[in-house]
Amino acid sequence: MRAVLVCLLFAIAALPGCKSEPSNAAGKTPDPTGGGDGDEGDQALFDRDRQPEMIIRALGLAPGKYVADIGAGTGLLTVHVARAVTPGGKVVATDIDGAVLEYLKARMVAAGFDHVVEGRVVQPTEPGLEPGRYDAILLAQVDHYFDDRTAWLKKAAPALKPGGKLAIANRAHHRAAAIAAAEAAGYTLVTEVADIPGQFVAVFEVKEGTP
Ligand SMILES: C[S@@+](CC[C@H](N)C(=O)[O-])C[C@H]1O[C@@H](n2cnc3c(N)ncnc32)[C@H](O)[C@@H]1O
Repeated sequence: MRAVLVCLLFAIAALPGCKSEPSNAAGKTPDPTGGGDGDEGDQALFDRDRQPEMIIRALGLAPGKYVADIGAGTGLLTVHVARAVTPGGKVVATDIDGAVLEYLKARMVAAGFDHVVEGRVVQPTEPGLEPGRYDAILLAQVDHYFDDRTAWLKKAAPALKPGGKLAIANRAHHRAAAIAAAEAAGYTLVTEVADIPGQFVAVFEVKEGTP
């Protein structure tokens, strides 16, 4: 019985849902409004750790932009992206896990952005994005889950509009692999944010002449 319980705990801890998301102090289910019921809500903890405004600025997000948030999870970052592109913009929030997108939906309803954000379940190897539609594609703490980063990034390139940007934001120890994969996939590094502690944000464009 004890062994079964231990296995169950490990299985829950290993869910790809969002290992990176800070939990509230009481370890309770996150509040989709981001408020939480502890001293500090999930959204506030997330914002302090991840500094979303840096990502928004690096990607040049502004009202009217069409953005894909890949591996959006429960939407703690998506809510910032939605706010940045409102009014007139749209966010396609993808994930391989339909259950987390239900959470994301609840968060967007609570924040008043459900008309801006479309949740989309995708296959692990497929970006699932329409060609030529996106001003920006954001991969926040997701590229390390891909079996083949380069193959995934190659498939995503046609979804960008000409001059569109792709950003990879992740913990610093993933930086070298992420940049090497993006360059191998035909992207060129145009900006990098290095002043979020323990993290990086690398912004790329598709190299001219890439098919
Ligand atoms: C660590 S969470 C990151 C959530 C959010 N982007 C953030 O920065 O907080 C990783 C998310 O990526 C999703 N994911 C993993 N592999 C994926 C893939 N191949 N395509 C899309 N989503 C994926 C997981 O289900 C999970 O919700």
